Amino acid sequence: MYTPTPEDRFTFGLWTVGWQARDPFGDATRAPLDPVETVHRLAELGAYGVTFHDDDLLAVEPDRARAIESFRKALSETGLKAPMATTNLFTHPVFKDGAFTSNDRDVRRYALRKVIRNIDLAAELGATTYVCWGGREGAESDAAKDVRAALDRYKEGFDLLCQYVIDKGYDIRFAIEPKPNEPRGDILLPTIGHALGFINELEHPEMVGLNPEVGHEQMAGLNFVHGIAQALWHGKLFHIDLNGQHGPKYDQDLVFGHGDLKSAFFLVDLLENGGYEGPRHFDYKPLRTDDAEDVWASAAANMRTYLILKEKSTAFRADPEVREALAAGKVTELAQPTLAEGEGYEDLLKESIDVAAVGERGFHFTRLNQLAVEHLLGVR
Ligand code: GCO
Ligand code: MN
Ligand code: MN
Ligand code: MN
Repeated sequence: MYTPTPEDRFTFGLWTVGWQARDPFGDATRAPLDPVETVHRLAELGAYGVTFHDDDLLAVEPDRARAIESFRKALSETGLKAPMATTNLFTHPVFKDGAFTSNDRDVRRYALRKVIRNIDLAAELGATTYVCWGGREGAESDAAKDVRAALDRYKEGFDLLCQYVIDKGYDIRFAIEPKPNEPRGDILLPTIGHALGFINELEHPEMVGLNPEVGHEQMAGLNFVHGIAQALWHGKLFHIDLNGQHGPKYDQDLVFGHGDLKSAFFLVDLLENGGYEGPRHFDYKPLRTDDAEDVWASAAANMRTYLILKEKSTAFRADPEVREALAAGKVTELAQPTLAEGEGYEDLLKESIDVAAVGERGFHFTRLNQLAVEHLLGVR
């Protein structure tokens, strides 16, 4: 029970389990992890795939060709897939003022070359999603960045990369990952909503969607489940980063469910019933206090929690009292168009209601909320 299999489509970034736990105040507490070991361990745990930044592959083998060869071999030995890839455009000092939107044109040109090189590898390994997290695209001072010019350059970058993918005939779509701050004081495209607006200005908006991360919206005090629902509504949920966060503070990257558990429950409920078909990708950091073996226990915890919440969601939806409460709260009535077939505003204007009486009707949402909490607590 709650044992993951590849059919569950769980994936992990190499950089998650491989995080050495270096933070702004302290040194690494864990040794570098060989990507080959990660592939084998994740396969043993029942994961479907692994994702990577270009530089993650070089964790223990500095020679790129050799590192790629061992990674490819590990994938074929285990059957693990590599459905998503991304670029590290944030670690090297060259990216200190950004990559696609650095004030320095040389840096912008280098960043695009770095992405293009890894897109070729992503395509070779069968990845169909290419994530772009612009962690360094931003500023600490409004004097230091002409945001409108930066957005022009951001668009120029995506237009160029889309054209590259089209010309090469790759089956790849881009997924922008919003984040409000950290490592920059303020990051461009800080939320799902900002990114959705930006995508509409691109030459190939159909090729660009989102990779929202639980903690990133929650850092901005936003409701992640609502953000994901809107991304789905726009047909833009190309990928997702699952993890945990306790409200507005630094990016915690906790194990999925180890932050706002109730939000995690409604997120799983939405992903399982809302038409999301992509991988369930974990982007978390094993605690700095965990040792090398704990890392694998934490990887397993992400998947186990997801499967538990999936079962809770099924039970919640099947509970007759929940169904009754959903109807009583008119949750289901919202699916009904406000105007009937063939009606227009003339029909609407002819009508009136007893506003005072309708204003007195209750929706009984506390009961519904309590039912969800009780399912979550395992007492129903
Ligand atoms: C973060 C980000 C990163 C990106 C990853 C992909 O926690 O700030 O989520 O982990 O997802 O680098 O580019
Ligand atoms: Mn994060
Ligand atoms: Mn992420
Ligand atoms: Mn992360």
